[in-house]
Amino acid sequence: MIEEIEGKIKEVLNFSSNSSEEIEKFRIEFLGKKGHISRYFSEFKNVDNSQKKEYGLAINKLKSSTLEKIELLKKTVSKISEGQSDDVDLTRPASIIELGSRHPISIIRDKIIDIFYKIGFNISEGPEIEDDWHNFTALNLPPHHPARDMQDTFFIKKDPDLLLRTHTSSVQIRHMENNEPPIRTISPGRVYRNEDISARSHCFFHQIEGLYIDENVSFADLKQTLLFFTKELFGKSKIRLRPSYFPFTEPSAEVDIYWGLNSETDYRITKGTGWLEIMGCGMVDPNVLENCKIDSNKFSGFAFGMGIERIAMLLYQIEDIRILYENDIRFNSQFKDSI
Ligand code: DAH
Repeated sequence: MIEEIEGKIKEVLNFSSNSSEEIEKFRIEFLGKKGHISRYFSEFKNVDNSQKKEYGLAINKLKSSTLEKIELLKKTVSKISEGQSDDVDLTRPASIIELGSRHPISIIRDKIIDIFYKIGFNISEGPEIEDDWHNFTALNLPPHHPARDMQDTFFIKKDPDLLLRTHTSSVQIRHMENNEPPIRTISPGRVYRNEDISARSHCFFHQIEGLYIDENVSFADLKQTLLFFTKELFGKSKIRLRPSYFPFTEPSAEVDIYWGLNSETDYRITKGTGWLEIMGCGMVDPNVLENCKIDSNKFSGFAFGMGIERIAMLLYQIEDIRILYENDIRFNSQFKDSI
């Protein structure tokens, strides 16, 4: 008997029709007063006790499958009669999908990458969780060097030391350790500093580092590279290099571009001078080359590093750095056309 019910379940599952009359006939055959299901129920008392459970389950399954099938078929019939079907209407106009926008930090990062790509730089990346060697010691900042205080650090643990990198200069070291000169690379990435959050600074931000190592690289090469970059990115061709100090470069300089004094905003952002500082740079200190097993008698090179937020804020006239990290759609969606 159970086998017979199972056969009926299969019959139900295989049944299909889009005629209302046939579906009604099917309903009566299975669910009607004299239908299969009520017949099976009335047989229940004759079933051997040991089989009652299995038998009961089988009829219940038959009943629920029949009800489901009828409901499904009725729905299809009514859809067809209303003129709708599940077939795709290829003539229907597509609904409009709103395009998203890139984040201003990504836009500026990609613009900078494109500029250096044109003059033969490749891209390198390194970890955000760094060790002391790559973030400090190899960059000519041995333990207890006072210049370590220039960058307030988030330490993760001691012995072996782990920290959140304070600058992308750590990627220079990794790149030199793993590649032979000539080297031409830029390294974009996020960096972390233990600083108070304000309109001008944040505890994390993004930098792009540049590194060029070859025979006979001079300060003049550095200056021409930076001039090319500032012309391409800002459309400005007046720059100046002010002597500065970074432990990993000697000599070191700060790069300013001449922004101009054409508007009140220009006066404000340049503090009335017309000049804006955009990055640090210098000739790679021979100690740094030696730390990476590069012969400093044969090779020389330059490096530079800049903050992406700072440049994005200048180009888009953004007053408060914090808005860059809030993901407010009203702010972010304004950059749709800048892609
Ligand atoms: N690492 C420096 C900073 O975060 C930026 C920098 C300055 C990078 C001079 C360089 C460089 O490669 O030559 O403040």
